[in-house]
Amino acid sequence: MGDPVNPGRNDASLACRSVRFNYPDGTIGLADVDLEVSAGELMALLASNGSGKTTLIKVLGGLLKPQSGSVTIGGMDINRLSNGLLYRRLGLLMQNPKDQLFGVTVDEDVSCGPRNLGLGDVEVERRVVEALASVEGSHLLGRPIHHLSFGEQKRIALAGVLAMKPSIMLLDEPTAGLDPAGEMHMVSLLQQLNREMGITMVFATHAVDLLPLFADRICVLERGRVVECGLTREVLNGKDMLGRAGLRLPYIASLFHEMKQYDGIYFDRMPLTVGEARREILSLLVGNGCIHYGGGMDHE
Ligand SMILES: Nc1ncnc2c1ncn2[C@@H]1O[C@H](COP(=O)(O)OP(=O)(O)OP(=O)(O)O)[C@@H](O)[C@H]1O
Ligand SMILES: [Mg+2]
Repeated sequence: MGDPVNPGRNDASLACRSVRFNYPDGTIGLADVDLEVSAGELMALLASNGSGKTTLIKVLGGLLKPQSGSVTIGGMDINRLSNGLLYRRLGLLMQNPKDQLFGVTVDEDVSCGPRNLGLGDVEVERRVVEALASVEGSHLLGRPIHHLSFGEQKRIALAGVLAMKPSIMLLDEPTAGLDPAGEMHMVSLLQQLNREMGITMVFATHAVDLLPLFADRICVLERGRVVECGLTREVLNGKDMLGRAGLRLPYIASLFHEMKQYDGIYFDRMPLTVGEARREILSLLVGNGCIHYGGGMDHE
């Protein structure tokens, strides 16, 4: 709900309507994009390379001004918010951490945002320690930024965003370039920030296998246009639509599609994760009398 002095101050919803953005050389970035993200929602922007994910994240974050259409936070046009107010509420993680990290050392960089908020030394330090712990980067305290690996820089960039305690986060490919453990940690961190702290999240990705683990909804872009927007399970069942957009089904779903198509094996629900696949296979085997529940395989 908004407050009368600052309409929309407490509402972490985000929307854009009829947004059109062309780059100065005439390249179409976004063509009539509509998007509504409710407060507390975790929305993925899924698209192949060059389809407009970064452009949309930058437009939503006020870094690029669309030629037409509007972007609102809590129902208020972002053009009516000062930069200070906007970035107090909205955190943006860039695709490339080098575009975001300006400090010489890790602590200097992560403390920069909270200091600009005018917080005292104790609170700034508390936020830096907390943010670094969240991204599993406590051991990097004091290190020069330019010595860090790409994955480490990505975590520090995210720590810088977290230290601002935003109510909305825009994340451009947060898992890209991370190792498998880092990828899973990022997924559970984003999920935790969303579920426990209610942070509204919009993140760009083409990591289709990770999405069923945590996205509420998915918006698919193709050449700057929204071609599909819906619940994760529904969107990830659209094999043809994903193919046309230069994407694919999650590998688990592809396997089950092939078993249905070539082997005539019918499944009640198309599994999207390893856990779902395990349960489907178990129920099929139990149903066919191949195994006894809780027991091992029947042998001839
Ligand atoms: N500064 C620019 N000037 C001209 N065209 C640009 C500029 N930045 C991006 N584009 C073009 O805008 C389109 C969308 O680019 P964008 O970076 O938003 O895609 P993306 O979906 O984020 O791709 P990726 O998955 O590779 O990060 C592309 O055709 C790209 O070439
Ligand atoms: Mg991009």
